[in-house]
Amino acid sequence: MASKSELKELVDALRRANRVAVLTGAGISAESGIPTFRGEDGLWKKFRAEELATPEAFSRDPKLVWEWYDWRRGIIAQKKPNPAHKILARWEKSFPAFSLITQNIDGLHQKAGSKNISELHGNIWKVRCTEEGTVTENYETPLKEIPPRCPSCGALLRPHVVWFGESLSSSVLNTAFLISSTCNVMFVIGTSAVVQPAASLPLTAAKSGAKVVEINTDATPLTSYADFSIKGKAGEILPKIDKELRALIKSLRN
Ligand code: APR
Repeated sequence: MASKSELKELVDALRRANRVAVLTGAGISAESGIPTFRGEDGLWKKFRAEELATPEAFSRDPKLVWEWYDWRRGIIAQKKPNPAHKILARWEKSFPAFSLITQNIDGLHQKAGSKNISELHGNIWKVRCTEEGTVTENYETPLKEIPPRCPSCGALLRPHVVWFGESLSSSVLNTAFLISSTCNVMFVIGTSAVVQPAASLPLTAAKSGAKVVEINTDATPLTSYADFSIKGKAGEILPKIDKELRALIKSLRN
């Protein structure tokens, strides 16, 4: 955990910030019981990404890919947002400008009440028609039909997520870089900061003069660039920062 003086400095910077941005990764959902990708019990330790999370894998065996996503949806459907998700949803209403950028596809930020979210890698509760390209919400767990088919044209549906080797939506990415280059403070929570282009966003923020705050249980390639690097669990650290921030604001009002 950060020292008292470090926390005071961070909270003071936060209190004076007009534009706050947050980038989250799988680590923020770890305390909700959703496995990360590269952690000890991470998904990529158990499964081969090339067999499950690439367009080639899908064209080779759409049934296998959908069985895996159906399994993941089944797990995620039972999970609840943790205090870290909830505080970010509340902060959205507390700052003049607050933007949340997530690499997560689990939808827990929305479940916690966050509205202003840029989903870089898509959403596991959305499906896309491989023929017409239409995107629809689908919360069916388990899926009645695997692989699921488009109700209007009968073509295969695919998860509306970004697979390895695929490009991100240019509009979502442009928004994310704009947010990063104009924020005063950027929190980077629960990401290993190795997957591009997401991992470039905090560096863009730093280059634009923002204070970068990393919250992670481990060091990452970003740690040496961060102004504040707080080691610990997001669900424990964010409540502490929030408590200090509210105490500071209250003391200034008195
Ligand atoms: N609180 C804070 N950080 C945590 C916690 C926690 N409770 N638990 C784990 N972490 C940290 C880990 O130390 C690690 O640095 O979260 C990070 C999770 O890293 P990854 O598993 O690599 O997940 P992420 O960075 O989101 O992956 C990026 O890669 O596989 C693709 O598309 C997928 O969006 C994903 C992208």
